[in-house]
Amino acid sequence: PIGEQEIHDQVVAILTPGSETVASTIMWLLQVLAEHPEHAEKVRTEVESVTGGRPVGFEHVRRLTHTNNVVVEAMRLRPAVWILTRRAKTDTELGGYRIPAGADIVYSPYAIQRDAESYDAHLDFDPDRWLPERAREVPKYAMSPFSVGNRKCPSDHFSMTQLSLITAALCARYRFEQVPGSNDATRVGITLRPHRLLLTPVPW
Ligand code: HEM
Repeated sequence: PIGEQEIHDQVVAILTPGSETVASTIMWLLQVLAEHPEHAEKVRTEVESVTGGRPVGFEHVRRLTHTNNVVVEAMRLRPAVWILTRRAKTDTELGGYRIPAGADIVYSPYAIQRDAESYDAHLDFDPDRWLPERAREVPKYAMSPFSVGNRKCPSDHFSMTQLSLITAALCARYRFEQVPGSNDATRVGITLRPHRLLLTPVPW
C-alpha cells in the first residue's frame, strides 16, 4: 500500500504540471484566433459541418482536423513548456559536442519548433502545414511540445483532445478581438504566456 505522503506527492505531481500548461496554451490559442480571424471562421465552419449544430463532444474530435491543426500550430510557435532539461547517464556526443556522464543539458522546444531548417516560412502561423501531405516533410522530433521519451507528458492525448474541444466550442459561438490595454507580448516564466491578454468575445 502507498502511504499518505506518496498520495499527496502524486496529487501534486499531477495537478501542478496540468494547470498552468493548459491555461497558458489556451491564452495563446485565443491570441492566435484574434490575430487570424480567417482561421477562427474556418474552425467555426468545420465545427458546424461536423456537429450539424449540436454541442461539440468527444465523438467529433477525430473529424475536427483543421481545429486540431490550429491547436498544433499554436503550440509549435508558443509551446507552454519552452525549456526542458535532461541529464546524461553515460558519456555521449550530441551534434558534435562531447557530453560527459552526469552533465545537465538544457534544451528548448521553443527554439527547435521555430528552426528554419525544419520549417518553411518558420515564423508564419500556418495550420495547413499539418495537413498529412505537408506534415510528412517535418523532421522527426522537430515538433514535441509534450517532450519525448520516458519522461514525456502522460497527458499528451488528453490535453490535445481537451484543447481541440475548447477551441471548437469557443469558435462555434464567437470570434475574439483584443481590446485596448491588451498586451500579447511573450512573458517568459516557467511557462510561456502573454503578458496581459485582454479579449472580447464577439458572437458571430
Ligand atoms: C497543453 C498542456 C500540456 C503541456 C504543453 C505539457 C507539457 C509537458 C512536458 C513538455 C512534459 C515533459 C517534461 C520533461 O520532459 O522533462 C510534461 C510532463 C508531465 N506532464 Fe504535462 N503538459 C500538459 C498538460 C498536462 C496535464 C493536463 C497533466 C495532468 C493531468 C500533465 C501531467 C504531466 C506530468 C505528471 C508530467 C511528468 C511526467 C514525468 O516526469 O514522468 N500535463 N508535460
